[in-house]
Amino acid sequence: MGPGPSDVAPSVLSAMAQPLVGHLDPSFINMMEEIKGMLRKVFLTENEMTFPISGTGSAGMEFCFANLVEPGDEVVIGINGVFGTRMAEVAKRCGAIVTKVETDWGRIIEPQAVAETLSSVKNPKLVAIVHAETSTGALTPVEEISKLVHDAGALLLIDTVTSLGGCPVRIDEWNVDAVYSGTQKCLSCPPGLSPVSLSARAMEKIKSRKDSVQSWYLDVNLLANYWGDGARVYHHTAPISMNYALHESLRLILEEGLENRWDRHKSNHLRLRAGLDELGLVLTAQEGHRLWQLNAVGVPEGADEAGIRTTLLNEHGIEIGPGLGPLQGKVWRVGLMGHSSSPENVDRFLSALKSLL
Ligand SMILES: Cc1ncc(COP(=O)(O)O)c(C=O)c1O
Repeated sequence: MGPGPSDVAPSVLSAMAQPLVGHLDPSFINMMEEIKGMLRKVFLTENEMTFPISGTGSAGMEFCFANLVEPGDEVVIGINGVFGTRMAEVAKRCGAIVTKVETDWGRIIEPQAVAETLSSVKNPKLVAIVHAETSTGALTPVEEISKLVHDAGALLLIDTVTSLGGCPVRIDEWNVDAVYSGTQKCLSCPPGLSPVSLSARAMEKIKSRKDSVQSWYLDVNLLANYWGDGARVYHHTAPISMNYALHESLRLILEEGLENRWDRHKSNHLRLRAGLDELGLVLTAQEGHRLWQLNAVGVPEGADEAGIRTTLLNEHGIEIGPGLGPLQGKVWRVGLMGHSSSPENVDRFLSALKSLL
């Protein structure tokens, strides 16, 4: 019940234990096609370029910036926690001129702040926003921001590492150009792959680059020769067992139904919230924009933040996460992600926490 990795369904673990086949084996190629199809359904997109990067969520982040940023490009990045900060660092390393839209940790990136920043940037090429900030528990709505970004002639990139599979993510409806996620949160698959999707507009920007993409491993043009629809060409040896796991976890999501899954995350969040209310505890992220899958709980005055976390783990077998950055020592981060989001887990956690407080 920490900020990830979440628990994994037994059938996902069994899938990983299946015998290996080659990365160009016809049965594996068939599975790659199914993974791409299921990812499109989970991202709610028709984007052709939708596939998993071999690497964790941060690899998906690097993939998006490495492909979309050319040295000297002006890039606007929303920063309201750890992962916006990381995006700014990655964009800088790709040669971007970064302008930050900063706000207090726990609050969302407001459209108005993005509009003001965009009006002060000469030729913005890309705007990047963390949809679900795992470090604070805040969910930034992106629809209004998307309109502002496109009116300014830029592309929109969003981080859905924590949101995908746990709350609505509608890539085509929201007009998002580039998105990355991770397997280890609400997809309930071990860490190791990063699903990504690029719009036709994003692909045009990449095709019109003056120089080749700085990263060989993450160059979408090369990856497309392996993950695309044409004849498969070896690029790197795909992590076969991880793809088995992702295939099974996506199958489980679609079997449950995307909306049913979102509803489950919401109802377990509300159950947690009601129990915390009874204990006199509060969620610290901005009211009205709290994540269902990651709950930042304010540590009450006088409580031993680290001691309670350690006892929860050692005596109750429950892992929760600490606060990061300015929230260190001030919050506990309680994950209700994917397979871990259940009423039983909520009740067990609340009862253990109550006894310790
Ligand atoms: C919102 C967000 N973005 C990016 C990442 C980086 O993912 P990973 O640790 O899998 O590389 C994380 C990880 O927790 C995250 O929560």
